Amino acid sequence: AEDGYDLWMRYHLLAPEQVKRYDSHASQLIIGSTTPTQTATRDELQRGLNGLLGHAPLLSNDINRNGAIIVGTPSSSPLIARLKLDTTSLGNEGYLIRSVAVDGHTATVIVANTDVGALYGAFHFLRLLQTEQSVDHLDIHESPRLKLRVLEHWDYLNGQVERGYAGASIWDWWKLPDWRAPRYTDYARANASIGINGTVLNDVTDGATILTPTYLQKVAALADVFRPYGIRVYLSIRFSAPIEIGGLKTADPLDPQVQRWWREKADEIYRIIPDFGGFLVKANSEGQPGPEDYGRTHADGANVLADAVAPHGGIVMWRTFVYSQNNPDDRAKQAYEEFKPLDGRFRSNVILPVKNGPIDFQPREPFHPLFGAMPKTPLMMEFEITKEYLGFATHLVYLGPLYEEVLSADTMVHGKGSIVAKVIDGSLEGHTLTGMTGDSNIGTDRNWTGSDFNQANWYVFGRLAWNPTLSSRAIADEWVRMTFTNNNAFVKPVVDMMMGSREAVVDYMTPLGLVHLMGPGHHYGPAPWDASESRADWRPVYYHRADHEGIGFDRTSTGSDAVAQYAPPVAEQFNDLKQTPEQFLLFFHHVPWDYRMRSGQTLWYELVAHYSQGVDDVKQMRETWRHMDGYIDDQRYQQVASFLAIQQKEAQWWRDACIAYFQSISGLPLPPGYAPPE
Ligand code: GCU
Repeated sequence: AEDGYDLWMRYHLLAPEQVKRYDSHASQLIIGSTTPTQTATRDELQRGLNGLLGHAPLLSNDINRNGAIIVGTPSSSPLIARLKLDTTSLGNEGYLIRSVAVDGHTATVIVANTDVGALYGAFHFLRLLQTEQSVDHLDIHESPRLKLRVLEHWDYLNGQVERGYAGASIWDWWKLPDWRAPRYTDYARANASIGINGTVLNDVTDGATILTPTYLQKVAALADVFRPYGIRVYLSIRFSAPIEIGGLKTADPLDPQVQRWWREKADEIYRIIPDFGGFLVKANSEGQPGPEDYGRTHADGANVLADAVAPHGGIVMWRTFVYSQNNPDDRAKQAYEEFKPLDGRFRSNVILPVKNGPIDFQPREPFHPLFGAMPKTPLMMEFEITKEYLGFATHLVYLGPLYEEVLSADTMVHGKGSIVAKVIDGSLEGHTLTGMTGDSNIGTDRNWTGSDFNQANWYVFGRLAWNPTLSSRAIADEWVRMTFTNNNAFVKPVVDMMMGSREAVVDYMTPLGLVHLMGPGHHYGPAPWDASESRADWRPVYYHRADHEGIGFDRTSTGSDAVAQYAPPVAEQFNDLKQTPEQFLLFFHHVPWDYRMRSGQTLWYELVAHYSQGVDDVKQMRETWRHMDGYIDDQRYQQVASFLAIQQKEAQWWRDACIAYFQSISGLPLPPGYAPPE
């Protein structure tokens, strides 16, 4: 049965003509097995080729026929050394795949400077077969654009996952370190297959227990499993740990005892995990402790940790998602206000994760104004992979277009073309510490992510972390082929459906630049009316500001002036009602209900039209899927069909609730001919 456990690494037998085509390129496998990574690479190629072609190639030491696959590094393989390929541009993680002639025989070489690079190359080669690409005349050069490609697990030690919709945490802390579940290896394989090279094991609001000796042993066991796959382990730390588990009276970052405590803790960690990645920190945000508790800055806090891990080559990811006090003015401005003045004050091994938008992982937000605003500080992208605000597990929402929209957004800080992708790949300001982190959607469900289509969001995150300029459509295409089938009658409509799915959810939840209409706390269904929360910025009414005259949050120079946080050309555009792209209209402007939109309709009618469109799009998705019956296994087909039915029901719920509520505020009639809710 197909329960989705294999993710995109299904390796099912290809059609006979495809097998024939690839057989002549997979006659022998020449690969070392002296290191754990080499063994993992060999095993993966054997498993993959055996599955795809029905038989694994002969393992050999020497080339003696056409169609060999030769894998390794110039230093691990004399055969590869003899080819004298130029590998300088590949760096530590890159690879090349090339069709060559060796001793009069044709061969495909997968070459890297490191074992892990070769492993990545092996996965790429398998992907070519999985997606039925040509493997003739190959000349592929790949190396990651970003250095840190990290998954964050918002997992607590009790197994609960914050914002997790796919079961419990996959880390079985009770049985670690002695029992290393096979699932950990499959997790590592999946990540390596898309180039993810770091994992943060625990939640950003976890306590300090993970830093105790007992838990560090468990962490070390996981690090051992992941190491062959090029994955380093990181931990979220609680800033007050020196008090909670260190017995100190303070966690003031400028206190010498506190500094010593962190140094010794880091030394202890590196003694048992020599390649430990470093720390992730959420400080002075949503009630978490931090340096500001002692009148210190985020830089003071980050630097004490950075100094502790620096001798070991570790890094600190200090989050900019700060959201600490009540924000009667404008929550969207807080991160910039707190961090921009600290530009240049962080140690060189500190990188700041910045969420894609200034609020919080909404279906759509403008890009975060910090991108481009801190030239002296490495910033990393933080995306949410788990669909906290996007329908949890059941709604089919492919996040590729959301990620791509933000990565290609132009900050204009150095003129046209200063896109967010160039901020985070370091090229805009010349940084070498670069990265992307994703808040994972992984749990103990058999299919890992709560639904088959949610796997695509893990996948696209990894592929974009490798290269943030890839197209989300191309990534969807390869994912569909690997996960379901290469049959174009399936691939084309399903990729189209995925590509449209993000706009659908924007339309039925928060069109035209609205944000945060979800019920506070759970963030699932609609609650635009909700004003019950104690904090203003936890109430949906704070965000949409609908009144009898109009709707939207005025962030222009006459409002909160959040627009001023963007570079002048962008600020001017967002400041001007007429120039603001309509998809961000109500994010930046409070607009009269009878305002004429570009379509000629009033804002009120257009809002209603978007809500209806969202529901219609989901209906269309169900229709598309109905035609896919028979192309794939029944188990996955049926679950997707059922989930789409849930999504349609809930899209209608969103539409009807939001239209009814906003109508009660606007007092305006529904557009003529508007069909009553079915
Ligand atoms: C969101 C989410 C929280 C999470 C926070 C964060 O606000 O709702 O659960 O802790 O993001 O990123 O820190």
